[in-house]
Amino acid sequence: MEIKMKPIDLIKQAVKAQNNAHAKYSNFTVGCALLTKDDDVILGCNIESAAYPSTMCAERVAIYAALAKGITRFKAIAIVSPLSAKPCGPCRQIIYEYLSDIPIYVSNGKTDKYETHHISDLLPHPFG
Ligand code: THU
Repeated sequence: MEIKMKPIDLIKQAVKAQNNAHAKYSNFTVGCALLTKDDDVILGCNIESAAYPSTMCAERVAIYAALAKGITRFKAIAIVSPLSAKPCGPCRQIIYEYLSDIPIYVSNGKTDKYETHHISDLLPHPFG
């Protein structure tokens, strides 16, 4: 599938979502931008709760929102956090199950630098 949008433009969208994060417990804000097959962008940010396990990661907010809209095919995903964090374990599992092996751009959102990963590298020997 052709990806017309530049990685840096998808990363900028993820920064927009990061600015909406609710991270008052960890102070670690994460933003995610998911590029759909039809070139729409679905955003997610982390949302924390006083009941800590109720917290939801930015990646899954975006993926679940897309699925709820009936969107099931994707071209790329960008994830932005202060430490250029790669997705956590549960997010890797959901990425494996619901996105195909699309590029995963990871950045701190502060510079034009980013890393490109694939779920096949991040989650070898997947379950499912
Ligand atoms: N977080 C994400 O949004 N995505 C990840 O892949 C890892 C962690 C969030 C959850 C929590 O709000 C904060 O980062 C600290 O763990």
